[in-house]
Amino acid sequence: MKFPPLQSKQKILLLKAAFFGQFFSYLLIKVITHQKNKHMIDLTTKFLGLTLRNPLIVGSCGLTDSVEKIKEIEQAGAGAVVLKSLFEEEIISEMEEAMHRMTSRAFIYPETFDYMDEGEDEDSVRKYLRLIEETKSAVNIPVIASINCVSAQKWTYFAKEIQNAGADALELNLFILPTDFERSAEDNEKLYFEIVEEVQKQVTIPILLKISYYASNLGQMIQKLSNTGIGGITLFNRFYSPDFNLETYQVTSSNVLSKPTDLSVSLRWIAVMADRVNCDLAASTGVHDGDALIKQILAGANAVQVVSALYKHGPKYIGQMLEDMKKWMEHEGYNKLDDFRGKMSQAKSSNPAAYERVQFMKNFRHFIFE
Ligand SMILES: Cc1cc2nc3c(=O)[nH]c(=O)nc-3n(C[C@H](O)[C@H](O)[C@H](O)COP(=O)(O)O)c2cc1C
Repeated sequence: MKFPPLQSKQKILLLKAAFFGQFFSYLLIKVITHQKNKHMIDLTTKFLGLTLRNPLIVGSCGLTDSVEKIKEIEQAGAGAVVLKSLFEEEIISEMEEAMHRMTSRAFIYPETFDYMDEGEDEDSVRKYLRLIEETKSAVNIPVIASINCVSAQKWTYFAKEIQNAGADALELNLFILPTDFERSAEDNEKLYFEIVEEVQKQVTIPILLKISYYASNLGQMIQKLSNTGIGGITLFNRFYSPDFNLETYQVTSSNVLSKPTDLSVSLRWIAVMADRVNCDLAASTGVHDGDALIKQILAGANAVQVVSALYKHGPKYIGQMLEDMKKWMEHEGYNKLDDFRGKMSQAKSSNPAAYERVQFMKNFRHFIFE
């Protein structure tokens, strides 16, 4: 078949059509890939051997002390929940009642009586087990029980009851403040390992240790704890901070809720410890928005706990934080968390000194307040 020769105008038209054709197919491919990526964003994460639909865990607090509140948290999109803590003193006290034979209260901590006198129900231990059972049948997200403890005393038997009630894991909030001058650093650190050992005798569910940064050699301590067979470590616990009332001369508690600037301590230690531990790491303290969530994953966290931000904005804020993380992932071209998890950890960092003294020297020597 022969075509008549084209005039120059027709040639130009043909060239234009070819160019725009190519341009539109390029655009089409871009849109399709973008849509595909959008659908492919996968926030699931493995934590303590459990599969979480996303890494955002609502940490232990008053927002996690009833089935109704936890249902709302699940609806808002959280990946898992840590129940409000039970105190080891409550367990021991309940045990005393049940056994009717403890006459000496030598191992009960004096402050506990104040706490219990303030209307604490004596049945709190059984109530706690019921909370686990009822929560487990009401929600599908993993439910992590929590015990606030300071010793490896007789309360540890209760860990088994928690497992039997159906908890998916157990977080131990080790509330060990090094303010006892009779105890050495070794004594304090030994306590962590004793508690782990005793609780491990009782349960097969994963144990998550929530610790503070008050240790004489924190990095090594975290590393050693990670080698005990526990499932994970939460960095960090937040103690109530004291303040003074200048009129009454009373010690008051301040800063119950964290601030976004509190993020840096846990961010540093997640980044330093990721790739150096034999268990999972959950970041806690100062995570107030989607960016902070992303940063903790970049540092290497397997999961991220959030509390204060939800007291401020309500549980629905969980959806906002996750949406912001998704948007960022889309923008950066990541489909799943493992695409960027730990990318900024100290071990993987192109500038590991950024976490160390060099950075301090650089910033503080030439710091000018504007
Ligand atoms: C009102 C309130 C109650 C809390 N209760 C507990 C608790 O029972 N057990 C526990 O391990 N942590 C408890 N925490 C600490 C939080 O779980 C969390 O570690 C801390 O608030 C830091 O996280 P954030 O910066 O997201 O608030 C509580 C925190 C708040 C604000």
